Amino acid sequence: MYDAGKILAGLVIFLLLVTTPVWWSFAMGAEVRAPKLVLPEGRRACVLPTGEMKATHMELLNRWRDLAVRHGDRVMTTWDGRKVRRSLTQSCLGCHTDKDKFCDRCHDYVAVTPYCWDCHVAPRGGAS
Ligand code: HEC
Ligand code: HEC
Ligand code: HEC
Repeated sequence: MYDAGKILAGLVIFLLLVTTPVWWSFAMGAEVRAPKLVLPEGRRACVLPTGEMKATHMELLNRWRDLAVRHGDRVMTTWDGRKVRRSLTQSCLGCHTDKDKFCDRCHDYVAVTPYCWDCHVAPRGGAS
């Protein structure tokens, strides 16, 4: 009835195929690494706890924009009592001065291209 040999051979081929990405990248040495981010020196905290920033900074930025532009409400108080101006270039890039090695590195990795820089001017990163 069943041909155990053929079934086994089929299973082996199937397993090789579905695991191709794993052993291929291993064999080729093209291991996937998380991007190396350059964090601001001399600053300990972001405007929200780090985990929240990672997950929700896009929504935070939209909120900042609406509050600042539509309601003139330009200052936020962080959870630890700091006052921060709701500004993409002055605050986010004021601390994260090297956009290339922070925002862009992560966005390139996940293949998102925020259109903000069509209008907003990013300070040239690198030096500071
Ligand atoms: C007062 C300085 C400061 C401001 C303003 C600031 N950040 Fe940060 N941000 C930091 C620091 C410091 C860290 C790293 C915190 C840590 O190591 O846990 C960080 C972490 C982050 C992370 C997580 C990075 C990671 O480790 O994966 C993201 C994303 C981020 N910031 C985006 C932004 C955006 C977007 C804005 C503007 C809305 C902003 N930051 C404003 C100082 C700042
Ligand atoms: C830890 C990785 C990481 C860092 C660092 C990071 N981002 Fe992002 N960002 C993401 C991811 C992931 C998305 C896409 C989320 C999605 O598709 O829902 C995103 C999306 C965005 C978006 C929305 C884009 C869109 O088209 O929807 C904006 C705006 C943005 N990031 C701004 C920034 C700015 C400004 C910085 C630097 C101050 C920054 N991000 C740093 C990971 C990061
Ligand atoms: C079509 C041009 C344009 C684009 C694209 C654009 N903005 Fe803006 N943005 C403006 C203008 C104009 C203001 C008003 C400047 C002011 O009143 O300070 C503004 C203000 C803001 C503010 C509050 C003020 C400040 O200093 O930052 C935030 C935050 C902001 N934008 C975030 C974003 C983000 C995030 C994106 C991308 C997802 C984006 N903007 C894309 C034109 C643009």
